[in-house]
Amino acid sequence: MGSCRDIAARMVAPGKGILAADESIGTMSSRLEKAGVEATAENRRRYRVLLSSAQGLSDGASGIIFCDETLGQTFDDGTAFAEAVNNLGILPGIKVDTGAKPCPGLPGETVTEGLDGLAGRLEHYAEIGAAFAKWRAVYVIDAGEGLPSDGAIRSNANALARYAAACQAAGIVPIVEPEVLMDGSHSIQDCAAATAKVHEAVREELALLNVDLAGIVLKPNMIIEGKDAADESTPDQVAEATVEVLRAWPDELAGVAFLSGGQSPERATANLEAMQRHDTPWPLTFSFGRALVDPALAAWHGDSSLVEAGQKALSDRVAANAAAVRTRQPA
Ligand code: 13P
Repeated sequence: MGSCRDIAARMVAPGKGILAADESIGTMSSRLEKAGVEATAENRRRYRVLLSSAQGLSDGASGIIFCDETLGQTFDDGTAFAEAVNNLGILPGIKVDTGAKPCPGLPGETVTEGLDGLAGRLEHYAEIGAAFAKWRAVYVIDAGEGLPSDGAIRSNANALARYAAACQAAGIVPIVEPEVLMDGSHSIQDCAAATAKVHEAVREELALLNVDLAGIVLKPNMIIEGKDAADESTPDQVAEATVEVLRAWPDELAGVAFLSGGQSPERATANLEAMQRHDTPWPLTFSFGRALVDPALAAWHGDSSLVEAGQKALSDRVAANAAAVRTRQPA
């Protein structure tokens, strides 16, 4: 499968991003139901086949993140997902955390679980062809309550680092995803301050466990105001604030692939394009979930005669984001 450094470089190769299609069974089921599709394992499989086999996907997507259920399923011809997407020139990835759970001692905050038995699960995922993994930590901003708290910041950073070290030991590239949520009415400055603190703790914990930064992909939130804030920042403001926070990361970091976090597909793309105007030592690309797949789900909504329409909606979003990333000037 190659070393973690080689795989990480492929994941953030120029002009490419990563598709996040790893919603848990619960989240995927409620999204399907909202779109009028019955939430069965077979419909979740059909939907992921639709996404993965979209025409030309590998032109703009280096990898797809799946959940455990999908990696145990197959394409219509019986080929297992990991092998099928590999055959399409796309790296298969696996979400290995078991979710953000209420953190005892920290009311209103969560710690992401999934470390128990992780080494064994990673070994299994490597055997069935997974090239990379993902773990998402979640932080809320509530300035009045002093959130995110130091406890949530430290607990999640430690878990992210233990996960990342375990992945590299198994030859799997960890996507390290600390997500400061857009929930609330906080300012872009509040988001910058909270995200900088979160990242500092993550860097410290990664260093303590000797995680090789050239063999990870960082998946952060963009620096952006809360979704209930009065004013919307411009792409230039988002890009400038985001790059300023990211500058604390060493040059050897393999790359940065942003989550979309609830932004509209168009806004996420515009912000990503504005990022490219900044000269950074690491590539800045996308690992969007909703900003790529929402239009596809809406176009398909379970109708087998609309598979191509769903695929086109996905391909259009991937192409738009790949084009945004390609506006980056070579150093
Ligand atoms: P969104 O882009 O929808 O935020 O999802 C990305 C992701 O992988 C969340 O863990």
